[in-house]
This record gives sequence, C-alpha cells and structure tokens, in this order.
Amino acid sequence: MSDLLQIAIDGPASAGKSTVAKLVAHQLGYVYCDTGAMYRAVTWAAIRKNIRLDDNSALEKMVAEIKISFKPSADGQRVYVDQDEVTADIRLPKIANNVSTVAAQLSVREALTKRQQEIAFRGGIVMDGRDIGTTVLPDAQVKIFLVASVKERALRRFKENQAKGLEMNLEQLEQEIAERDHKDSTRAVSPLIQASDAVKVDTTMLSIDQVVAKIMEIIQKKAKNS
Ligand code: CDP
Ligand code: CDP
Repeated sequence: MSDLLQIAIDGPASAGKSTVAKLVAHQLGYVYCDTGAMYRAVTWAAIRKNIRLDDNSALEKMVAEIKISFKPSADGQRVYVDQDEVTADIRLPKIANNVSTVAAQLSVREALTKRQQEIAFRGGIVMDGRDIGTTVLPDAQVKIFLVASVKERALRRFKENQAKGLEMNLEQLEQEIAERDHKDSTRAVSPLIQASDAVKVDTTMLSIDQVVAKIMEIIQKKAKNS
C-alpha cells in the first residue's frame, strides 16, 4: 500500500477503538492518535486549575495555554500536560465522569479539532474518537464505526479495571457508560454519530484479533479500489 491513508475509527465508550486502532496502526506502520486522551487531558487540567467544566471562555483560554503531548513508550503512549505525566490519571473515574461536559464546549472542540487535523495532515494515521469521520477528517479514505452492546462494553471496562486492581460495580459502570454515550450523542457540536460513508463493525461477539482482521480487510479493499 503506497498511499498514506487517513483511517478514522469512531464509536461509543469501550467499543475497542483504542485497542484495535493501535494494532492496525502498528500493522501498517502508521501513527496512532488517541483523541479521547486529548479531551481527557483538557479535563484533567481544568480540574487541577479549578476551572468550571462548562465555562466555555475560561476553557478556551486554558486550552490555548497548555501543551498536550504524546510520547511513545514500551507499554503504549504516555500523555503529558505541559511537564506533568497524566497517562494514568486521565483514566480515573473522576475524569471519565466529567470529560463529556468539557468535550461539549465549542471552544475546546475547535482547538482540539484543529490540532488533530494538523497531526493527520500528511496521512499515515489511525485516529480514534467520536467525530473523526464526521468532523475532524471528513475526507478520510477509511472510516470505521465500532459498536458493541452496552453490557459487553461495561464488562470489558470492568475487567480492565479489575486487572489494574480497581474494583467497580458492574451495574454502575454500565450506567455511567450509557450516560456518557447519551451526552456524547446528543451534544450540539460534533455529536457521536456514524458518518454516512463509515463501515459499521459490531464487535460484541468478536475478539480483538477478529476486529483487527476485519478492519485490515476493509482497508485492503479500499486501497485496491482507489
Ligand atoms: O476510552 P473511552 O471510549 O472511554 O473514551 P475516550 O475515547 O477516551 O473519550 C473520552 C471522552 O472524550 C468521550 O466520552 C467524549 O466525551 C470525548 N471525545 C470527544 O468528544 N471527541 C473525540 N473525538 C474523542 C473523545
Ligand atoms: O477505546 P475504547 O474506549 O473504544 O475501547 P478500548 O479501551 O480499546 O477497549 C476497552 C476494553 O475492551 C479493553 O480492555 C480491550 O482489551 C477490550 N476489548 C475486548 O475485550 N474485545 C474487543 N473486541 C475489543 C476490546
């Protein structure tokens, strides 16, 4: 495959986006960009600076002042806000339960969308999020919309937390995921919706390897036809 493609992977929480996006990027020798981590990092910074999470103009000022960066590491990517490493902190429930409020603010979306478009400009990128196929990269050659039942997604997050030693209530987790999906899907700016030219992949009954194989098949087909 000679052309450097833009590959957009969107979908609701815990559908497997980041796990499979990383593996697809690795197979293709592409860069992986986790846009959710950027929204989480902004939320982390706003909480630390005591900024109201729905204060659009205060957030605009803050986002212009902070630098979010990614550094590759043996266990994936490390995320920084200025000099502070926030890789683990941005996965905590406190961030997960507040990120949708911050992500609904227009100023935050505009600033991060611009940054994401700069990152993806040259192609050779797999970017995952909620609005990549619709807003960030509307011309991406490959668009995938990953879904899975909310029960399965809550169970996946539950097991992930358990492996980290975090005990959570499965039913509460399911409710939190459903609430976040609802907020993300109903916000005014760039809501979570499937792009009209995206391919939907239901991962409820699929293993990670099966999802990756399916996506690679879609990419190969696309490359052959273009
Ligand atoms: O990993 P998980 O699916 O739980 O979420 P994430 O991808 O880390 O994204 C966290 C939150 O950031 C989402 O629930 C959205 O509110 C927001 N987000 C967004 O609005 N647009 C994106 N492109 C990516 C994330
Ligand atoms: O990025 P997103 O929130 O969509 O999901 P993720 O963080 O990539 O995946 C959530 C969890 O589901 C991880 O622990 C994955 O290992 C797991 N997973 C799975 O069990 N089966 C899949 N087909 C995909 C992901």
